[in-house]
Amino acid sequence: MSERQETLQFSEAALRQVEVIFQRYPADHRDSAVMPLLYLAQREFGGWLSQEALDYVASLVGMAPIRVYEVATFYTMYNLKPVGKYHVQVCTNISCWLCASDDIAKALQNRLRLAFGESSTDGRFTLAEVECLGACVNAPMMQINDDYYENLTPAKVSEIIDRLP
Ligand code: FES
Repeated sequence: MSERQETLQFSEAALRQVEVIFQRYPADHRDSAVMPLLYLAQREFGGWLSQEALDYVASLVGMAPIRVYEVATFYTMYNLKPVGKYHVQVCTNISCWLCASDDIAKALQNRLRLAFGESSTDGRFTLAEVECLGACVNAPMMQINDDYYENLTPAKVSEIIDRLP
């Protein structure tokens, strides 16, 4: 175990949340809490999950680290490298695609001058293509940090980006 792994630790507030999360599951199935704990770790450790953070979660839930890596690499909601101040996630799944998410994606790429998976050099933006975010009824849509933006058009995308502080 590296020195960083030994020092990586949730805050007291996060540890209280860990206990609340564990109470949702049978005591002998702490591994059931892996997804909410990964999400909590992502929030706690700067918006992304380093290998040290993944190993820390593995130790909390009593899972082999490789099994935690499998979960973290499967879902787009887990960031495996640092993201910018604004994490822009555009859905290109079927409902959004049928409602011209390609145009939204192109507008974002042009406006931010980023390809999917890239971050701006000033650390302000990360652009990601993601699977369905559960807002299909108002497709096409994108998520920026914790906020959803729906019924998008390329013009609306530009306005939204311009309004970000
Ligand atoms: S397909 Fe885009 S939110 Fe569901």
